[in-house]
Amino acid sequence: MSTSATHAASEFNNQNLEPLFLAEQIQNRIAEMGAEIARDYAGRNPLLIVVLKGAVVFASDLLRNIDLRLGIEFMAISSYGSMMRTSGEVRIVKDLDVPIEGRDILVVEDIVDTGLTLTYLLENLRSRGAKSVKLVALLDKFERRERDVEINYLGFKIPDAFVVGYGLDFAERYRNLPYIAVLKDPDVQ
Ligand code: IMP
Ligand code: MG
Repeated sequence: MSTSATHAASEFNNQNLEPLFLAEQIQNRIAEMGAEIARDYAGRNPLLIVVLKGAVVFASDLLRNIDLRLGIEFMAISSYGSMMRTSGEVRIVKDLDVPIEGRDILVVEDIVDTGLTLTYLLENLRSRGAKSVKLVALLDKFERRERDVEINYLGFKIPDAFVVGYGLDFAERYRNLPYIAVLKDPDVQ
């Protein structure tokens, strides 16, 4: 028996993944969100700030559903803590390359959990003189909130479970799943 037999045959379908939102459900919801944003920002030129790395997959689908003149920029944040939860101590690892004074900012995030990361980031962006700063999040793990964060455009509320896929990772794995799944047991390889 080869050593590869210890690995699941498919990365996208294994016993440790319980599907939560299928690719088609995600696309349908994103189409609605994009249309809503396009309506709300009609005649304006918003700047999408995508939070690396988790929000990249969501943002790439979302922006193709926003029929407006817009820009995109990226930021990377590191929050200290274990792999499965944040400590609240947040640091900017990659900052914006452009000033945002006077701009209408839409922060694009994969998931709001405790809210610690977003509280820090939104406050930081507001202090740079943006005209407006709103939040778009694909998932809201609302039961675990420690800081109030207003999500202006939300994909789905989810229960208190660890989810992966569609950009979301566990120790950098599973970002490439085309759907969102609950990771049943983090100790299982
Ligand atoms: P917060 O500061 O606790 O709101 O943490 C938000 C960040 O934690 C997200 O941007 C994710 O990187 C990570 N995170 C929180 N919950 C999950 C999850 O269920 N799966 C994957 N990453 C998560
Ligand atoms: Mg992460």
